[in-house]
Amino acid sequence: EMSDQERAFQDKIDADIKIEPRDWMPDDYRRTLIRQIGQHAHSEVVGQLPEGNWITRAPTLERKMILLAKVQDEAGHGLYLYSAAETLGESRDELVRLLHEGRMKYSSIFNYPTLNWADIGAVGWLVDGAAIVNQVALQRTSYGPYSRAMVRICKEESFHARQGYHAMMKMAFGSPAQKKMAQDALNRLWFPSIMMFGPSDSESTHSEQSMAWKIKVKSNDELRQQYIDQTVPQIEYLGLDLPDPGLKWNAERGHYDFSEPDWSELFDVIKGNGPCNTDRMNARVKAWDDGQWVRDGLMAHARKKAARQHA
Ligand code: ACO
Repeated sequence: EMSDQERAFQDKIDADIKIEPRDWMPDDYRRTLIRQIGQHAHSEVVGQLPEGNWITRAPTLERKMILLAKVQDEAGHGLYLYSAAETLGESRDELVRLLHEGRMKYSSIFNYPTLNWADIGAVGWLVDGAAIVNQVALQRTSYGPYSRAMVRICKEESFHARQGYHAMMKMAFGSPAQKKMAQDALNRLWFPSIMMFGPSDSESTHSEQSMAWKIKVKSNDELRQQYIDQTVPQIEYLGLDLPDPGLKWNAERGHYDFSEPDWSELFDVIKGNGPCNTDRMNARVKAWDDGQWVRDGLMAHARKKAARQHA
């Protein structure tokens, strides 16, 4: 049975009225948002690592500048999202602490390595492409600050995906050796990218409640299908082979059929056993520890300033 307060809350959701920080909300709605927005923020921050790895080795000055700007954008996305979580009463320090203690998740995709320059093109194209499909839907999420953060993030993310596709075009239309690298990157990153959308709807623990609350507006499987449908023609344009023999247009459904990913791999990566999980966490904890002197300095300065004002 719903209380009057819960009924009024659900009526607002059903009428597509945004929930704002000072509005009453069920505890579980707040907790679910903190979990999802926090995980999303962590993904943006950890997501800098695989690409940051190639900034010093970008093939031209132009590519280096583009990659540098993109990786900085990801840091900004993390900050918007931590701010959105703060409006729910959860501090950024606390979220970061939970991440570093292994008690919060971030996207599985960032636990795969970027082995060469073609991987950087493929990450921009496939990973940011998948992120956009997910985040365009989230622009309509029921929580106001999260929804508004998504609007800005999607604009920047579109630039990211285009720069990735552009780098892939160079490779795919380049020498046979470059084309081979592009194909190899696509083959390795395809299944990890379609697993970004989470487990299938029947295995997804939070979907039913999150959709009732319109925290999620499309299901994991719907978004995955939308991503696959938009990406296959892009693969064909590049003249690359499809990375999954099961990819076939199904005229009856009006969608591409595809092979079921190996879900045990997703759950394994989420549990911490992907190829780069340990490296990623070590890098984040080290960055946090290395930044301690900056935080100490800022605090000392703030104390001095406050003392001067009182004098
Ligand atoms: N990587 C890591 N964990 C995942 C992934 C994934 N790809 N997919 C699902 N999970 C986790 C969920 O967090 C949940 O774990 P928890 O209960 O411990 O929190 C569990 O697996 C079960 O999955 P769902 O019930 O389907 O979880 P949820 O309803 O949160 O849906 C989804 C998952 C679709 C990722 C959702 O959280 C979402 O849309 N998040 C915002 C987008 C985002 O985080 N993007 C980051 C990657 S893109 C980028 O940053 C560039």
